Amino acid sequence: MKVVAFNGSARKNGNTAILVNRVFQKLEKEGIETELVQLSGEKIRGCIACYKCFENKDQRCSVTNDVLNSCVEKMVEADGVILASPTYFANISTELKALIDRSGMTSIANGGMFKRKVGAAVVAVRRAGSIHAFNSINHFFFIGQMIVPGSTYWNMGFGLDKGDVEKDEEGLRTMEILGENIGWLLKKIHG
Ligand SMILES: Cc1cc2nc3c(=O)[nH]c(=O)nc-3n(C[C@H](O)[C@H](O)[C@H](O)COP(=O)(O)O)c2cc1C
Repeated sequence: MKVVAFNGSARKNGNTAILVNRVFQKLEKEGIETELVQLSGEKIRGCIACYKCFENKDQRCSVTNDVLNSCVEKMVEADGVILASPTYFANISTELKALIDRSGMTSIANGGMFKRKVGAAVVAVRRAGSIHAFNSINHFFFIGQMIVPGSTYWNMGFGLDKGDVEKDEEGLRTMEILGENIGWLLKKIHG
C-alpha cells in the first residue's frame, strides 16, 4: 500500500513538510510506503478551462508542459493521497490550488479517478486562516468520492519560521494520530 503527499509550500522542507513527515512516520511503521512530492520550484499552472479532458477521457490533463500529469499519475497509483499546504492569506497556496483544480477536473471528466481512495489534508499556519485552508482541501476529497479519516484536532500545525512547528506539541500529536488513522483505514479497505 502507498500514500503519496503533495506539499504545496513555496518553501521546501518547511513546516508543512515536517507535519507530513510526522504522518508518514506512523504509516511507515505499519509497512505502508510513502512519497513526498514538493511542488516548490516546479512549474504548475492553473486550469485553462479548455474542457479537453472531457473529450479525451484519457486520465490526463490536456495541458502537458508542466508537472501536473506526473502528479495525477502518482495519485492514481496511490491508495491514499495527502494534500498539504501552508496557509497563505487564509487559504491554500497557488500551487496546491492548481493541482486541485486540474487533477479534480480530470478526475470528474474520467468518472472519478480517485474514488474510494483515502484522502487527508495537512495545513501549516502562523496564526489564523488554517481552518479555511483545511476546508478548501477537503472539498476536493468529498466531491471526488474519497474517504476522509480524522484526528484529535483538525489537521494543522502552528509555526512561522522553518522548523517552528516542531514546538507545537499538539499539532505534532494530531499528525501522528492522523497517520495511525490513515493506516488503520487503509488496512480495513485493503485487508
Ligand atoms: C504569502 C504568505 C501568506 C501567508 N498568510 C498567512 C495567513 O493568512 N495566516 C497565517 O497564520 N500565516 C500566514 N503565512 C505564514 C505561513 O502560513 C507559515 O509561515 C507556515 O508555517 C509556512 O509553512 P512552510 O514552512 O511549509 O512554508 C503566510 C506566509 C506567506 C509566505
